[in-house]
Parts: sequence; structure tokens; C-alpha cells
Amino acid sequence: MSDYAKGLEGVTAAETQMSYIDGTAGILEYVGIPIGELGSHSTFEETVFLLWNNRLPTRAELDGFTKDLRARYRLPDGFIDRIRACPQDAQPMHVLRTLVSALALYDKNPNANDVPSAREKGLNILGCTPAIVAAFDRHRRGLDPVAPDSSLSFAENFLYMLNGTKPTPTMARAFDICMILHADHGLNNSTFTARVVISTLSDVYSALTAAIGSLRGPLHGGANEEVMVMLNEIPSVDAAEKYVMDKLERKELIMGFGHRVYKAKDPRASHLQVLAKQLATDTGNQALFEKSNKIEQIMHRERAAKGIYPNVDFYSATTYHCIGLKLDLFTPMFAMSRLAGWTGHIIEQLSDNRLFRPKAKYVGPHNAPYVPIDQRG
Ligand code: SDX
Repeated sequence: MSDYAKGLEGVTAAETQMSYIDGTAGILEYVGIPIGELGSHSTFEETVFLLWNNRLPTRAELDGFTKDLRARYRLPDGFIDRIRACPQDAQPMHVLRTLVSALALYDKNPNANDVPSAREKGLNILGCTPAIVAAFDRHRRGLDPVAPDSSLSFAENFLYMLNGTKPTPTMARAFDICMILHADHGLNNSTFTARVVISTLSDVYSALTAAIGSLRGPLHGGANEEVMVMLNEIPSVDAAEKYVMDKLERKELIMGFGHRVYKAKDPRASHLQVLAKQLATDTGNQALFEKSNKIEQIMHRERAAKGIYPNVDFYSATTYHCIGLKLDLFTPMFAMSRLAGWTGHIIEQLSDNRLFRPKAKYVGPHNAPYVPIDQRG
């Protein structure tokens, strides 16, 4: 029996204490706490503490952690010039991957990968990445950057730096919930990527840069942008039926559906669906939500039997749109949040490291002759 599992499907490649996923029952827990509870009652700051410490903080610990994170909102001196040097038509995920990597140039000890150093670097990167995304978006609009405000939460501060005005409590809370829901998710491709890189005892910047590169893929985090492209292509709720059926006929993927692990509805999709519905109503985007709902009904009829349900990316698209984010900022939002999970997994890998080095099944020739070049066909 071959031990070859294409795409490592079904292979357990690490142990983690952070996310538990039951793909059959559609359950996701962070350190044992159901994701719905965290989405309803927690904050992104508290969730990051939970993921990195395997327990909820006391009030004093949360205050201290929050203060520590807010102290890292600011970009390194001179870094803004790198953002201004980016072409205004550069894609935000390529900017993010490039500039998170560039943060290593401002670290006097970039290679330190003992656990305390990894945590410190992860916190630095988590703290200032919103400023990178916000400043680039303003740069491409011909606007000056807005300096971070350390009196604001992670969610409030990002929206403030992006728009130049403080967000409403509703929008700030909606964004905070999105950050909670995207923070960690077992050994997804980008998290596995981060673990593979750090397992060589490389550095946190290299591991997180590689993870951002993985997340951009439309089969992974890039799907939320593709969902919005699809929603924009469908002119009305009534047109959804033909649009989806034609794509299925052509054996094309309906973005935001399906999952390697979930064969039931992704619990994050359920939480985001409620949020999207509320935000769509508040912002006059009901048609967008109704289109999404209609697509889900069609896919349930056509593909639920095959275990294909909405995943986290499906309703996050409508949510991010209603918050006022541009389509090509959706995946950077996913990355900003998942920096928490990636850093947690980097810490876990460093705490009990074993170099990742799977085998490859050789299917090429053997004992082939070396033919001199002038005798080749
Ligand atoms: C994320 O791993 C994680 O945890 C990721 C994530 C996280 O938090 O990190 O949850 C975030 O990446 C969510 C997934 C976002 N991607 C998409 O929405 C892209 C669309 N989805 C598909 O690409 C697909 O469902 C995957 C990649 C997500 C999972 O694919 P698998 O497990 O490799 O499944 P498969 O391609 O083998 O599909 C099995 C069957 C195939 O049909 P048959 O060849 O058997 O006839 O299901 C079909 C597929 O064609 N199928 C779909 C479909 N997804 C699978 N058909 C239509 N639309 C889809 N979306």
C-alpha cells in the first residue's frame, strides 16, 4: 500500500493546541472555546492572547497585552518611504508580502528564533501590518498616510488609518469579529507553509512572508476576493441560478464553497452570514446579501450531497464590502488576522521542532544513458 497522499490529504503533519476542527460536524474551537462564543463575546486582542498562551487572559493580562500590541502600531522610521516607492497600481497582497519581508531589514537581530524572540517579532509584525496596508491604500489614492492612534483597538485603528476618520462602533465591532474568525484554522496551507519554513530554524520574517505568499492563492485566502468578483458579475438575484448552473456545467469552481476538511457548513461562514445580513441592511447592500443567500441555496441543492458548503470566504466578501473595504483588500484582511495563527504555529513548531522533509515517490526512469549533445535528437 503506497504511503503517498497527494496534497498530503488526510495526513497529520503536526500537533497543535490552538484550533480544533471537526469537519463532519462543522465545529471549530480555539483552545477548546467554540468559535461562535469567541465571535460573540471576545475581541481580536483577547483571541490573540488565547492562541499564544493556550488560555484566556485575566483582565490585567489583557490590559498589559493590549498595551504591548498598541505600542507596536508604528512603522519603523523611514519605512513609509518604502510604501511611497511602491507603484500605485501594485496589488496589495504583493505589497504586503514584500513589505512584511522588508521589516526584517529594520530588525537588529532578524534571525533570532528562540520562542521569546519569535513571539516578540510576531507581535511587532502583527502590530504594524495594519499601518502597511492602510498606508499603501492611501498612497495609491494619492493620499498621505494617517499615523496610528494607540488609543484605539486593533480594529478601530486599522479603519481609522485607512479612512482618516474613526469608524462607527458597529463597523469597528464587525471588523473585530472578522479578525477573530480568521485568526487560526489548524494546518491550512499557509500555516503549514509557515511551519515548514521555521522548521529549518530560518527566521520569523521568512516564515510569515512565505505564509502570505501561500494565502494569496485563490484556492486559499484569495477566494474571498474571487467571491466578490463573482457577486459583481451576477447582475441580479434572479440571474444567480443561470450563472451558477452554467459554471457547474463547465466544471468550474464556485469560489467560497468547499473545503478540504469541512464537509458541513464552515461555522465561520454561519457567523459571518449573520453579520453580513445585518451590515447589508445597515448599508443598503441587501441585494448583495440576497445574491449570496441565493447562491448558497443553489449550491445546497446541487452540491451539498458532495459535502460542498460555504466556507469562511463566502460571506466574508459581503461583510468586507459592507464595511467599505475595496475588493483587493479582502485577502490582506485575512492575512492581517492570520498573522496571529501563523505566529502561534511558529511558536509551537519552535517549541518542539522536527525539520519537515517528506519523501517524494520517484516515477522517473532509472539507469538512463548520458547521450553526448551532438547525438541527441
Ligand atoms: C480557505 O484549509 C483551510 O483551513 C483553509 C481556510 C483557512 O481558514 O485557512 O479554511 C481558508 O482557504 C477556505 C477555502 C477557500 N477556497 C475556495 O473557496 C476555493 C473554492 N474551493 C475549492 O477550490 C475546494 O473546495 C478547496 C480547494 C477549498 C478544497 O478542495 P479539495 O479538498 O482539494 O477538494 P477537491 O478539489 O478534490 O473537490 C472534490 C470535488 C471535485 O469534484 P469531482 O472532481 O469529484 O467531480 O468537489 C468539487 C471538485 O470539483 N468541488 C467544487 C468546489 N470545491 C470542490 N465544485 C464546485 N465549486 C467548488 N467550490
